[in-house]
Amino acid sequence: MAITFRLMTRDDLPLVHEWHQRPHVARWWTARTTFEETEAHYVPTIEGTEPTQHYLALLDGEPLGMIQTYLVSDYPDYAALIEEGEGTAGLDLFIGDEAQTGRGLGTEMIRRFVEEIVFARPETIACTADPDLENTASVRAFEKAGFRAVREFVDPEDGQLHALVRRERS
Ligand SMILES: CC(C)(COP(=O)(O)OP(=O)(O)OC[C@H]1O[C@@H](n2cnc3c(N)ncnc32)[C@H](O)[C@@H]1OP(=O)(O)O)[C@@H](O)C(=O)NCCC(=O)NCCS
Repeated sequence: MAITFRLMTRDDLPLVHEWHQRPHVARWWTARTTFEETEAHYVPTIEGTEPTQHYLALLDGEPLGMIQTYLVSDYPDYAALIEEGEGTAGLDLFIGDEAQTGRGLGTEMIRRFVEEIVFARPETIACTADPDLENTASVRAFEKAGFRAVREFVDPEDGQLHALVRRERS
């Protein structure tokens, strides 16, 4: 089982859009109902005008899911909300095919991405994520990948309680 990462390109958008329509992804992610919404969200990062980096995760060379990272300090409102600042990178992900969830792949995806991509930036000293508290699979996958829950907060975007999970550079 080899999980690798490459930066997302415009050619990936039809697949990524289709993933967003699947109920197991849509349940926990911002709705991207039309292809135009998906393009409007991802194209600025693909072109480098928005600082988040979106990657495609591949399993043995085949698309497995999407994983993204950003410096929390690039988003001051969010940084204040989670009480993190310089040196902290955020992380979010999903596996595109529900049949590939629950097999340990999400945990491995997080673990490798943190080591190979997030902490490749020398100034990054911590990585955080904010799964919905009810998203047990996500909270647990982060925990198994070495994150620990540090606090809970209500995200004003969805009104839900989220767990802030954090892993420091080892
Ligand atoms: C969240 C996600 C990335 C996790 O990846 P995964 O491959 O499914 O997770 P893993 O198999 O590595 O680990 C899941 C863990 O949660 C546990 N789990 C899963 N569903 C659970 C549930 N309903 N209740 C309790 N535990 C649960 C599993 O048993 C496993 O823990 P264990 O190994 O100790 O038994 C994946 O499920 C996914 O993409 N979900 C849809 C989108 C999403 O929620 N993204 C995250 C947004 S923050």
